[in-house]
Amino acid sequence: MIVPLLIAVHVLGVVLWIGGVAFVTIIVFPMLMRMESSMEKVMFFQGVEHRFAKIAKMSVAVVGLTGGWALSVMHGWNRLFTAQGIDITLMLVVWTFYLLVLLFEGKLFKIIFKGEAQHDMSKVFLKLTAFHWVVLVLSLLTIFVGVFAGHGGF
Ligand code: HEM
Repeated sequence: MIVPLLIAVHVLGVVLWIGGVAFVTIIVFPMLMRMESSMEKVMFFQGVEHRFAKIAKMSVAVVGLTGGWALSVMHGWNRLFTAQGIDITLMLVVWTFYLLVLLFEGKLFKIIFKGEAQHDMSKVFLKLTAFHWVVLVLSLLTIFVGVFAGHGGF
């Protein structure tokens, strides 16, 4: 009873979090790329990412807690870094990556936008778009593998 409940909450957290990443990547970035002024681009991007960061932080906490708790109840920690535990291993890698990005978000913004606001930001946003696509595809792959493995696919 506790494991299905934990996984249900776990998946709700994943939906909110990765859904937000998909929205930013597929909807917000193309809007940004069409904006004329570099300053306008930076302000809009930081506004969206700053608001989304709160939802992402909450989701990362919920997903990590429920996933870790479920794995403990199932005595499944030894599945990590094994062929049968490929789903859990991918989940942990993606989760750790997001945690690091969220923890150092402020520093990352400073590095990315340092002294660039006056210049043409198109190249920076092109790189950011590519980065978001890589992260989104990796997250979707994790969901695919997670559901596939969880339902006897392997
Ligand atoms: C600390 C990180 C995480 C841990 C410890 C964790 C752990 C778990 C566990 C134990 C399950 C139950 C299924 C099984 O045993 O194979 C599960 C299911 C699932 N997880 Fe994670 N997870 C984590 C992060 C993530 C992330 C980042 C994603 C997505 C990007 C994700 C997506 C899913 C999905 C979609 C399922 C449902 C699979 C099904 O249909 O049964 N998890 N997770």
